Amino acid sequence: MTPVFLDHNATTPLDARVLEAMAPWFGAPANPSSAHRFGRAAREAVERARAQVATLVNARPGEVVFTSGGTESNNLAIVGLTGARAARVVVSVTEHPAVIEPARRAGAREVPVDADGKVDAAAFAEALGNGAAIASVMWANNETGVIQDVAALARLSAEAGVPFHTDAVQAVGKIPVDFRASGARLLSLSAHKLYGPQGIGALVFDRTLTLEPPLLGGGQQGGVRGGTESVALIVGFGAAAELAQVSRDDRTRHALLLRERLEKGLAALGPVTVIAQTAARLPNTTLFSVVGVEGETLLVALDGAGFAVSSGSACASGRREPSHVLQAMGVGQGEGVIRVSTGQATKESDIDFFINALERLLSPGGGLVGGAVGGW
Ligand SMILES: Cc1ncc(COP(=O)(O)O)c(C=O)c1O
Repeated sequence: MTPVFLDHNATTPLDARVLEAMAPWFGAPANPSSAHRFGRAAREAVERARAQVATLVNARPGEVVFTSGGTESNNLAIVGLTGARAARVVVSVTEHPAVIEPARRAGAREVPVDADGKVDAAAFAEALGNGAAIASVMWANNETGVIQDVAALARLSAEAGVPFHTDAVQAVGKIPVDFRASGARLLSLSAHKLYGPQGIGALVFDRTLTLEPPLLGGGQQGGVRGGTESVALIVGFGAAAELAQVSRDDRTRHALLLRERLEKGLAALGPVTVIAQTAARLPNTTLFSVVGVEGETLLVALDGAGFAVSSGSACASGRREPSHVLQAMGVGQGEGVIRVSTGQATKESDIDFFINALERLLSPGGGLVGGAVGGW
């Protein structure tokens, strides 16, 4: 059986149409800063892609700065606004490390979440206090799929005079993301989560803000992000953004159908609990825990059975522990946790085969249940 990829929150396969759009730019002498015809053609291609990305999130092209991906976009937002000086950066405890780590370097105030992973709005408002440099809460969580009330948090930030950033890397392409309507002043995205290439992303930001660029160089992209633009990757990002724009509703419908099928199948298995099941979640994401089985062990067994998924544990100093996200939600202790994230090519039969494989592995003869759950 062909292996089934159910890990689209980690990365997505490149869409063949995106590769086709990129192909002419690989190897072309295309520096968008050059004044000659080759440079002009490259510049046009980059500006077209900038408009495609802007359209996807309802921003202006001039608000889009291309980066090397979600990690750099998050760093650019936080380091850009704090200038790498000590400053208060308000974040949720469930942020991706690409937000938490730069926030901690400046001076993070980490706001708790409830059992569903939703940010405690009162604690968030209090943490903003006087003079935070930036607040950052992700649009949707990569592990749980839980969607935050970004507009409400952006409003609280605006009232406190604090620029609000959102890491929308997991949300864009899966659910509607409207930069303008959200009230966020900075927003990060990454192409490889929406069938574009790896190594390219963008920070969308309100140009009335002044960012201190962490990379000093040739003044490209208005001086905010120096370095010769990768035309092929940018063109790929633009093409992926346009495809996401036109097919988003179909993708959402398809993902919801698969999620319902998956979660019905899981419910029938018995010792399985879907985490944050009743919270607003990304349509393609299901995180579930299984009592009595270690997550990594289950992941390896599923891999052997032909299914690529993720586990919700982090291996810290030899001990397997629930991830920081699960710990913040108070779940996953003593349980194996598996994340299934579907994509545009996932079929209903893939879900049925997955449930069958899981049922087999969790049955008394499957070799997993009843074993030690080491270190949990
Ligand atoms: C929520 C979130 N933010 C940021 C990133 C980092 O993005 P990139 O891999 O493009 O650096 C990821 C990737 O896993 C993510 O899920």
